[in-house]
Amino acid sequence: MTTLSLAPLRGLTDAIYRNTSARHFQGFSTCIAPFLSTFQGTKVKSAKLRDLLPENNQTLPVIPQILSKHPDQFVVLADMLYDLGYETVNWNLGCPYAMVANKKRGSGLLPYPEEIDRFLELIQDMKPALSIKTRIGRYTPAEIKTVLTIFNNYPLTELIIHPRLGIQMYKGHPDLDTFAYCLDKSVHPVTYNGDINTAKDYRRLQEQFPRVTQWMIGRGALANPFLTEQIKGILPSENQIQRLQQFHDDLFAQYHARLHGSGHLLGRMKGVWFYLADRLSDPKKSLKRIQKARTIATYQDIIANLFQEEQLWKREK
Ligand SMILES: Cc1cc2nc3c(=O)[nH]c(=O)nc-3n(C[C@H](O)[C@H](O)[C@H](O)COP(=O)(O)O)c2cc1C
Repeated sequence: MTTLSLAPLRGLTDAIYRNTSARHFQGFSTCIAPFLSTFQGTKVKSAKLRDLLPENNQTLPVIPQILSKHPDQFVVLADMLYDLGYETVNWNLGCPYAMVANKKRGSGLLPYPEEIDRFLELIQDMKPALSIKTRIGRYTPAEIKTVLTIFNNYPLTELIIHPRLGIQMYKGHPDLDTFAYCLDKSVHPVTYNGDINTAKDYRRLQEQFPRVTQWMIGRGALANPFLTEQIKGILPSENQIQRLQQFHDDLFAQYHARLHGSGHLLGRMKGVWFYLADRLSDPKKSLKRIQKARTIATYQDIIANLFQEEQLWKREK
């Protein structure tokens, strides 16, 4: 059976987004939450864990993600998450940003296989099981070939591969040859992640990698929340604009209730629209209009007008 999981996108796929999108659109059966960094000591600020409190995650099963190069700190946080009810945690070996990678975290650890080996050895006794999300290297795909032999020596629930290098950021295309190599050599279940933006992209990849049953989608699903339904062959609904508006209004209401200050709220909604505007008939122009909103009232006016215009535009088509 094919499993679709929602990728972690920091600043976007928080608990409110994950739950709301799962209530309005079908298709995802699981997700990974954006990363938490580890910290020194054994106390964690409760605000840091709020996004992962079980009561905030009742709609879509979630696996928390940790970004760290410190095994002792990783175990403290992983065990804390286990005590909250998470049986699995994910280790981030993919983050490409220089600020992270230069400190040997995320994809920045991939050129150092001995450190990865030591890390995995030292976290063996933690309470939850481990899943890993990785890129294929920081500088070269040769890195994953070595690292994979290390992954194979440890129990993992899954290995999620975004087949790009850290230094590529999001440029270029996923390296499917290296993905094929990893799929062949990994003893763990492999999840494919990267650039699934249409149902056609998904089908092409599925034909190329028939053994893969787990697929992770990020930006494509934020830009087109119907994508998972299209992939799963759920009949397209007539009232897509209306469903989109209902989803938006629900999301907006929840962020309005949660976030303090209009700047935060508008910033968050503009972040959502950065992707979601793709569903509108003129994405660039619409996004420009939305970006101009400085108050909550003008934002609401702009969005109401946009949806109204979309309905008219659709009727005239
Ligand atoms: C804004 C943004 C934030 C992201 N945050 C995370 C994160 O917290 N953890 C992580 O493992 N990947 C993160 N990613 C990477 C995505 O999970 C995913 O691997 C990548 O976008 C490729 O998949 P896609 O083409 O389906 O989006 C982020 C990506 C973006 C664009």
